[in-house]
Amino acid sequence: MGDAAERSSTRDGSTTRIAGVRPYGEDAGDLYVRDGVLVDPVSDPDETIDAGGLIALPGLVDLHTHLREPGGEEAETVDTGSAAAALGGYTAVFAMPNTDPVADSPVVVEHVWRRGREVGLVDVHPVGAVTVGLEGSRLAEMGMMAASPARVRMFSDDGRCVNDPLVMRRALEYARALDAVVAQHAEDHRLTVGAQAHEGPVAARLGLAGWDPAAEESIIARDVMLAAAAGARLHVCHLSTARSAEVLRWARETMDVTVSAEVTPHHLLLTDTAAEDYDPVHKVNPPLRPSADTAALRRALADGTVDCVATDHAPHAVEAKDCEWSAARPGMLGLQTALPVVVTTMVATGLLDWRGVARVCSEAPARIAGLADQGRPLTVGEPATLTLVDPDAAWTVRGESLASRAANTPYEGMQMPVSVVHTMLRGRWTVRDGAVRELRKVAQDG
Ligand code: DOR
Ligand code: ZN
Repeated sequence: MGDAAERSSTRDGSTTRIAGVRPYGEDAGDLYVRDGVLVDPVSDPDETIDAGGLIALPGLVDLHTHLREPGGEEAETVDTGSAAAALGGYTAVFAMPNTDPVADSPVVVEHVWRRGREVGLVDVHPVGAVTVGLEGSRLAEMGMMAASPARVRMFSDDGRCVNDPLVMRRALEYARALDAVVAQHAEDHRLTVGAQAHEGPVAARLGLAGWDPAAEESIIARDVMLAAAAGARLHVCHLSTARSAEVLRWARETMDVTVSAEVTPHHLLLTDTAAEDYDPVHKVNPPLRPSADTAALRRALADGTVDCVATDHAPHAVEAKDCEWSAARPGMLGLQTALPVVVTTMVATGLLDWRGVARVCSEAPARIAGLADQGRPLTVGEPATLTLVDPDAAWTVRGESLASRAANTPYEGMQMPVSVVHTMLRGRWTVRDGAVRELRKVAQDG
């Protein structure tokens, strides 16, 4: 093992002291790491990292990432997406199955899982498709995917809604038997044929076909009832309207249902008026909503109605975005900007403190996905899986400088208030001083 590899790891019996760090933004102290876990203080650490002024959070967990491999490698790969994730402070991501071929079989999910292990920068958990080819009619081999080495425990047709209620009911029943969760992209496609932007005055003025918010809200209302009937766990992807949050509150108050929900950073920050420049970088599904919705979503995240933040990181090749609005593919990059956008919308506004950030960006998503060694407290005996954030290091977003293969960020030129400085996965540095570590060698040698 070379020097660089040795320095990147605490798994060889050596102890690293992370000095002067503020866990959850609270009182400064030292964290000690040995053999991949947080340990009691020692007097003679082998290495000391000066983390004065930095905030430590448990490694972030993203339930909604498009890594595009296999089949979409011109936009992203497991390599480039894992690098973007680690740089964004993530230690685990869930890779959506709308790839080519679709991840609807044990072969494809195992391939994605193995690629993630080879790269070694974040834990890559493949999400299995609910239906064959995402076509919405026949259930995919959910049991086989669950039994594969990838141990799939989350299923979704994301990009598409499981629109047929009987197929959704059956999927929930299988998920229950597998102790898995169905993550629904809530969009009644009958209501959104040709839709281009949130249905309202902005879209009308721009001449863009409207996306009726009821297409989302009505599917969530339907699905909580189906999940209650099936005794299954439902997760709602990228919730985007105030009324969707109301439906969740009503469901939890009135029925015995286990339902969780995520909101994206872009639905917390950006509004439908972003489309006024007709730049397809702002085209996303579900679409950006009016400011009354973003305000309600922030409140819903703060009060726990919405459980967590998920990026819906959706890289697209230049051709898919450098065209007229209606021809462009929906989606935007998210992994490297998620935490700063959460800080802007939730911390700077006083809605959440850093403990709250840990809850919505790490603990809650780990719990929803059933990950045992992510989203854990920063206490002795727990995995050394964490991210160190400089709360005062502002930076300017440049799509070309992001680690993703694609550059379709809606935040081009925008100032972000905080920076991820270091990320550690089970005692291995994946990011040091804002740069990705070359871990392949470490993974192979040791
Ligand atoms: O904007 C989106 N992009 N929404 C989705 O549901 C799918 C995603 C993608 O795969 O590009
Ligand atoms: Zn989606």
